Amino acid sequence: MDEVSTGPILFFDSGIGGLSVVKEARILLPQLPYVYVADDAAFPYGVWEEEALRGRLVELFGSLIERFSPALVVIACNTASTLAIADLRAAYPGQTFVGTVPAIKPAAERTRSGLVSVLATPGTVRRQYTRDLIGQHAGRCHVRLVGSENLARLAERYMHEGFVEEEAVREEIAPCFVERDGARTDIVVLACTHYPFLVNRMRKTAPWPVDWIDTSEAIARRALTLAAALPPQARREGPDVAFLTSGRPSANLRRLLSGFGFSVET
Ligand code: DGL
Repeated sequence: MDEVSTGPILFFDSGIGGLSVVKEARILLPQLPYVYVADDAAFPYGVWEEEALRGRLVELFGSLIERFSPALVVIACNTASTLAIADLRAAYPGQTFVGTVPAIKPAAERTRSGLVSVLATPGTVRRQYTRDLIGQHAGRCHVRLVGSENLARLAERYMHEGFVEEEAVREEIAPCFVERDGARTDIVVLACTHYPFLVNRMRKTAPWPVDWIDTSEAIARRALTLAAALPPQARREGPDVAFLTSGRPSANLRRLLSGFGFSVET
């Protein structure tokens, strides 16, 4: 039987954060063609006003779906998913979307102290979606929402330039650490796909050890389940394609993307 190609898996983020999901997906789904899209012209999403960002995402996906005909779309961005996943599904009903949302349920199941922190962008922290997840799954925990102004930017810098100031990381994560009635925070949910790239620095600068919950592997597993239902696909020879909305990738960014198997298309 001939192989039917139904298009690539499209991974989407505002910047390099989605690469933390791609890294896991490459292990589980090595055989599929990928496209990586970074809406870097609009980075950081965390500070956008909700209506404006929702409008931008719905419009942008019209052109991305037309251009790449993806078999599957992975929104590898909590800030975009918690805001617009329902709108995207409604606007493009023929398209399958995998979203990325804060891992509040597993954190609530795993905590022993009952003190959990969710480290995210200011946008994700403000979302009703995030509040609903806490109401549904973490009613018996004390959940602290920490909206970080700078961590996504620090992660970008680290991945582009290979350098991050530890003191800056320490300051951003400090509000996650709570002591109450002799108990301490024991879980921090990394609710932004940029953050796993800084987790070693976070471990180093944390006031005490905690479990850092990273959803990248779970998202890749979800993509694996959905991809299993697709017709067999032929992976192209050579690198996969990355597309940046700025159209101006730096040499460092090109190098970084090439390390993840992508060549930049403009
Ligand atoms: N990587 C994105 C997330 O998972 C957000 C970074 C940003 O654009 O602020 O939330």
